[in-house]
Amino acid sequence: MQIIKEKAPLREVISKLKLEDSCIGFVPTMGALHNGHLSLVRQAATVCDVVIVSIFINPTQFDNATDLDNYPRTLDSDTQKLKELGLNLIIFTPTAAELYNDEIVSEHFQFDGLEFEMEGKYRNGHFDGVGTVVKELFEIVQPDKAFFGEKDYQQLQIIKKLVKHYHLPLEVIGCPISRENNGLARSSRNERLSPKTRLEASFIHETLLKAKEKFGTESANQISQWVENEFKSHPYFKLEYFEIADSETLKPITKNLGNQKFRAFIAVYSEKIRLIDNIALNY
Ligand code: PAJ
Repeated sequence: MQIIKEKAPLREVISKLKLEDSCIGFVPTMGALHNGHLSLVRQAATVCDVVIVSIFINPTQFDNATDLDNYPRTLDSDTQKLKELGLNLIIFTPTAAELYNDEIVSEHFQFDGLEFEMEGKYRNGHFDGVGTVVKELFEIVQPDKAFFGEKDYQQLQIIKKLVKHYHLPLEVIGCPISRENNGLARSSRNERLSPKTRLEASFIHETLLKAKEKFGTESANQISQWVENEFKSHPYFKLEYFEIADSETLKPITKNLGNQKFRAFIAVYSEKIRLIDNIALNY
């Protein structure tokens, strides 16, 4: 396993891999690695010759300076976890100045309206920041396949759009959500929950499972109302949004047309910790 901090040596290694016709897999992360991240790396390694994992806390995608300051920085344990996988990996850990050439600003993107839905409404500039860093990383890494988690389903759809708009020669692969034993979607933020709240947080996934059961027999409005009521009476969690939306356009459901695929999306606060999750409803 190699650890590379600068773009130039990484580009050199990649040129060699390209000459050898190696299939390059790419898993971009912000570190604080958990089994969710590792499941992406494992999936990438099953179909690629070498997997490049970037660890970079991207300042341009945080709309809140405190959130950026509080983001866990655990490079040593991250590299240890990756090493223990025993796979053919290259870790890329640039500084912000190195990655952005000292100019840490976001580009502005249009993602055919995906950027205005759900997370886009609540996290100002977030997807411009994600688009900026992922486009830059794709340019450096030149992967054949890039792996993103369905945990951040809207991000996954946005990256697919980015690749399409810029005609980037790579395949974007969505990977299933990895969950803790109680169903809570894995996230580096889970570490900040108290042990009691972390257990109680099974409620989020359970609510999504019940919404899925109801889908098809109850209207989307009835289901949303039911979810809102469930959270109103919950002592630990405050609902930010619950939405049933088309799985590609992410537009809120209007009618349940038989051939459309729908997902339910949820964002919840526990004190200051924000958790998101989603589930496929009819596929
Ligand atoms: P980060 O939150 O570190 O997540 C890196 C990748 O891991 C993303 O594709 C995310 O969807 C995936 N992931 C996180 N938790 C997961 C889980 N429980 N199950 C499956 N996959 C999971 O997402 C980002 O970083 C950044 O926005 C990034 C794309 C790196 C750009 O800065």
